[in-house]
Amino acid sequence: MERTSFLVEELDTAELYKLTTGLIVPRPIGWIGTRSTEGVANLAPYSFFNAVATNPPVLLFSTGIFDGVIKDSLQNIRDTGVFTASLVDHDLAVAMNDSSATLAPEVDEFERAGLTATNFGHVEAPGVSEAKAVIECNAIREVEFGDKDGLHHVVTFGEVVAFHVDSNVLDGTRVDPVQLDALGRLAGMDYTTTRDQFRLDRPN
Ligand SMILES: Cc1cc2nc3c(=O)[nH]c(=O)nc-3n(C[C@H](O)[C@H](O)[C@H](O)COP(=O)(O)O)c2cc1C
Repeated sequence: MERTSFLVEELDTAELYKLTTGLIVPRPIGWIGTRSTEGVANLAPYSFFNAVATNPPVLLFSTGIFDGVIKDSLQNIRDTGVFTASLVDHDLAVAMNDSSATLAPEVDEFERAGLTATNFGHVEAPGVSEAKAVIECNAIREVEFGDKDGLHHVVTFGEVVAFHVDSNVLDGTRVDPVQLDALGRLAGMDYTTTRDQFRLDRPN
């Protein structure tokens, strides 16, 4: 195999972004639901999103901050301490994309994307009613990376309080990935789904 190697210190911000997001694929998408202190519902997709612990379950997502501009999701979480992560399935792809538009904090992205903001009862943050799974979280920690004057990232950890899952995708607590049909993000504008799968039994 002939490889091309890249030294991080020789790459610019755009090249680092392309390599990182092109190689770490597919990335699950957390559709982060929050509410401002003024009561405005906010929704945005984050593909720097994953699960990192199971008991208690802990999720994380990472917000890019350019020139000190803090995205509404992070600001709301800092103000209220809670968020939801709804899962995006293939049928909701266009609505998810619509909800990524940069809009003023007073704009409700649920409404803009034609979605229903629902409070699921355990944290004061809305989830997507149309999503097959909505996860309610308490924000428990932040970790920052990068240059505060240029681009940096704030990783928000959330401890899960409750999972709300479409019964049709469940067999007990086992989730059927084909029925879930969750989107994975590839590089740029490209996506995949969880429909394509194969099985591999563990050695022992
Ligand atoms: C599929 C997808 C994934 C995204 N992932 C991230 C991410 O991981 N981190 C981030 O800062 N922005 C991400 N974005 C961009 C945000 O969704 C966008 O900046 C949005 O306007 C933020 O909204 P907010 O200000 O309401 O939080 C993503 C956009 C899309 C379409």
